[in-house]
Amino acid sequence: MFKRIFIEYFKRHLTSLILIILMILIVTVLALIPAQILRIIVDDIIFNNKANLLLLFGIIYALSYLLIGVFNFLKNLLMLNTSQVFLEFLRGKMLTHIHKIKYQDMVNNDSGTFEAYFNNDTNSINELFTSGVIDMVTDLFKIFGIVISIFIYSLRFGIIILIILPLIIIVTGIIRNKMLKAQLSSKNLEGNVNKILLENVEGIKEIKTNHLSSYVKEKYMKILNNHFKANQASNFYDSFFSPLMQIIRNLVVALILIVSGINLDIFGMTIGMVISAITLISDLFTPIENLGTEIQTIQKSVAAIKRINEFFTFPSDFEKKETLLGDKINISYKNVSFSYDKEVVIKDFSLFINAGEKITFQGPSGSGKSTLMKLALGIIKPSAGEVLINNCPIYLIDNATRRKYFQIVYQEPFFSNGTIYEELTLRDFSISKEKCQEALNIVGLDYIVNLDLILNKDEYSSGELALLNIARVLVHNPKVIFLDEMNAKIDPFTASKIIKIINSFAKDKIVISINHYGDILENSKIIKLDNQINKSI
Ligand SMILES: Nc1ncnc2c1ncn2[C@@H]1O[C@H](COP(=O)(O)OP(=O)(O)O)[C@@H](O)[C@H]1O
Ligand SMILES: [Mg+2]
Repeated sequence: MFKRIFIEYFKRHLTSLILIILMILIVTVLALIPAQILRIIVDDIIFNNKANLLLLFGIIYALSYLLIGVFNFLKNLLMLNTSQVFLEFLRGKMLTHIHKIKYQDMVNNDSGTFEAYFNNDTNSINELFTSGVIDMVTDLFKIFGIVISIFIYSLRFGIIILIILPLIIIVTGIIRNKMLKAQLSSKNLEGNVNKILLENVEGIKEIKTNHLSSYVKEKYMKILNNHFKANQASNFYDSFFSPLMQIIRNLVVALILIVSGINLDIFGMTIGMVISAITLISDLFTPIENLGTEIQTIQKSVAAIKRINEFFTFPSDFEKKETLLGDKINISYKNVSFSYDKEVVIKDFSLFINAGEKITFQGPSGSGKSTLMKLALGIIKPSAGEVLINNCPIYLIDNATRRKYFQIVYQEPFFSNGTIYEELTLRDFSISKEKCQEALNIVGLDYIVNLDLILNKDEYSSGELALLNIARVLVHNPKVIFLDEMNAKIDPFTASKIIKIINSFAKDKIVISINHYGDILENSKIIKLDNQINKSI
């Protein structure tokens, strides 16, 4: 799936692709130029005493570095921009898919999993552009270009470089690996240190009450000590790496100088070529050092791509159909069974709910009350049997119809940082502000007058939030109202006020409610659910 998205993106943005390739080529070629200018300066200018040209070539030499800087900047800018636009494209595709994922698959995975797909994984893919593949290709090209340049100067010297090159790569790789391991263990332990610190801060009351300070301190010091040791190792490799690379670089340079000093003819190079080769070899080290980080970034990105592909394998929900339901609504459970994974929650349940009827499900926790409600809402599909609304399977109903016919009140009201008007109407702008104000008056929240204010959950009590939720139900004027333990978290006074409001508002509507305790709706038929019956398999 990722591959498809990637190809689709670059088909649409062919110019960016061409620009990227062009940039890589320009940056690679430019990297080779200063060494060549140096060769010309030594061989053609200094040796032929053309002092008048020295200034000009000095300027050209400086300019070549300026050009390298400019093009590196342009390349980075291009990559940053491409990666951002690509990420937006990818996240867009992911959002489209997440809309289609089944309710059940969503709740079976904790929200952290989905957050990781959208944050960590897409960010790793971002790095693939900004510091992964593109940089690696550029660096490989640079290494290749340098080796070719040296071969052009001297076949023998080229062969020697070809022999030394793998050795340098291996040494760098080994040290990098050790460095990485030390960093990783230091990072892990850092996580432990933070975790135990947070735990202790959160549990400070218990620690003080139970006089556990010395025990906690001992535990903390132990982890701190381990972290310190791991950190030392990591620091050691960090400080070791760069001087070591410098030493190797200088050794190679010294070797060239010594061998050339003994006999310039061994390599068949002019002095200019030797100086140029030294510059080139010095330049060889940086890309080699970078390769390690780049490979690591690519590995991380490959894992991220795997996970993104995994995200796209979440199967799509049932195809929804546009439905005409008419005015009079009835709901029927016909021999419905339902199981999450293997555990049977509902078994052979039948119930006919006529227009205007009120139903209350009662039963112990885990007896399947909420599951029955979800089945009637159509967000889950029965494993056997059918849940029908006017003879149409509820899970097939399209979302617009669903919103028009159904309204739900949970114990935790759902608000999403919109204005009061948006939250009440759920952005159905055909509902007027007057109607919203009217609903607020009915539920007793008449002191809310500015509907354009953001509905900030922290500014309201749980009772007020429940009333706002009821106001939402009122403005939508649905045919079916679901109340899932809406009184569990509010004061009994507000709860019975809500019951009164619904009693008078919902005379002609179906109301399916779940109540553990407290008032129930007038004329409500009570359906008792028993754990034993449902778990009898
Ligand atoms: N998403 C889920 N995945 C697996 N099991 C679930 C899930 N949701 C609920 N269950 C299980 O199904 C049973 C019924 O749950 P539910 O309908 O929420 O009960 P109630 O609302 O009556 O307390 C419980 O045993 C619960 O553990
Ligand atoms: Mg429940």
